[in-house]
Amino acid sequence: MSHHALVTGSSRGIGLAIARAIARSGGSVMITGRDASGVDEAVQSLQGAGGQVAGTVMDVTDPAAVAGAVRAAERAFGTLDVVVNNAGIGHYGDIATFSDEHWRAVLDTNVTGPFNVMRAAIPALRRAGGGWIINIASLAGAHPFAGGGAYCASKAALIALSESAMQELRGDDIRVSVVLPGSVATRFSGRSAGDDSWKLSPDDVAEAVMGLLRHPARSLPSRIEIRPARPKKG
Ligand SMILES: NC(=O)c1ccc[n+]([C@@H]2O[C@H](COP(=O)([O-])OP(=O)(O)OC[C@H]3O[C@@H](n4cnc5c(N)ncnc54)[C@H](OP(=O)(O)O)[C@@H]3O)[C@@H](O)[C@H]2O)c1
Repeated sequence: MSHHALVTGSSRGIGLAIARAIARSGGSVMITGRDASGVDEAVQSLQGAGGQVAGTVMDVTDPAAVAGAVRAAERAFGTLDVVVNNAGIGHYGDIATFSDEHWRAVLDTNVTGPFNVMRAAIPALRRAGGGWIINIASLAGAHPFAGGGAYCASKAALIALSESAMQELRGDDIRVSVVLPGSVATRFSGRSAGDDSWKLSPDDVAEAVMGLLRHPARSLPSRIEIRPARPKKG
C-alpha cells in the first residue's frame, strides 16, 4: 500500500532517507525543513524516485507553520496518513554551565515540535480513517549520558509523549510508534565527517520505518530500538 506522508526535517540526514524510501515505495511525501534551499534541493533530489514529492518550509516550533504544512500535504496528496516526527537538534554540555538559549532550543525543537505536529495532524489522520505517527527519538532518551542533559531529557520526553499518544489514538486506527536509533552517520548537530563506518546509515532507520508501515493492521510495534550491530572499537 502506498502512503501519503509528511516527514519533518527531511531536507537531509535521516528524514531525507525516510522520505526517499516512502517515495520509492510509490508513496507521496511532503519534504519539510527551516531552510528553503535545503527543502528545494531535497525535493529535486527525489524527482523520479517513484511517488509524488512536494516541499514546504516549516519550523516545527511554530504552530501556525506546522498547521500550514499539514494543510499543504492534504491539499497536495488529497489525504495524509503518515506523519514522521524526525526534525531534531542537539546541544551538549554540562548542566552547570548550560545556556538558557540551548536548553530552550533543544526542548522546543525535540519535544514541543512533535507535540505541535501531532496536535495539528491528528484531525487529518482521523479524516484519512487512520494511519501512522512515527516519532524519531534516540537511544539517548533511554540511556542518558553526562554532557547530554538537554538532549537526553528531550528524547526521554518524546518517548513518553509518543506512548501517551499511542494509548490515546490506537482505538481510532492511528498507530503511534517511537524509534530509538543509536549513532547514525549524518552531520547531526554540526558533526564533522570522521570514521562513520561503524555507525548506522540513515537508510537503516528508513528501513525500520518502512518495516513499521508494512505491519498488518492488527499489529503495532510501538517502540523500536535500532543500534549499530558492532559498537565502535576502542
Ligand atoms: N544522527 C544520529 O546519530 C541520531 C541518532 C539518534 C537519533 N537521531 C535523531 O534523528 C533525527 C534526525 O537527525 P539527523 O542526524 O538526520 O539530523 P540532521 O542531518 O541534522 O537533519 C536534521 C533535519 O531537521 C531539520 N530541522 C532542524 N530543526 C528544525 C526545526 N526547528 N523545524 C523543522 N526542521 C528542523 C533540518 O533542516 P533545517 O536545518 O533546514 O531546519 C534537517 O532537515 C533527530 O531527531 C535526531 O535527534 C539522530
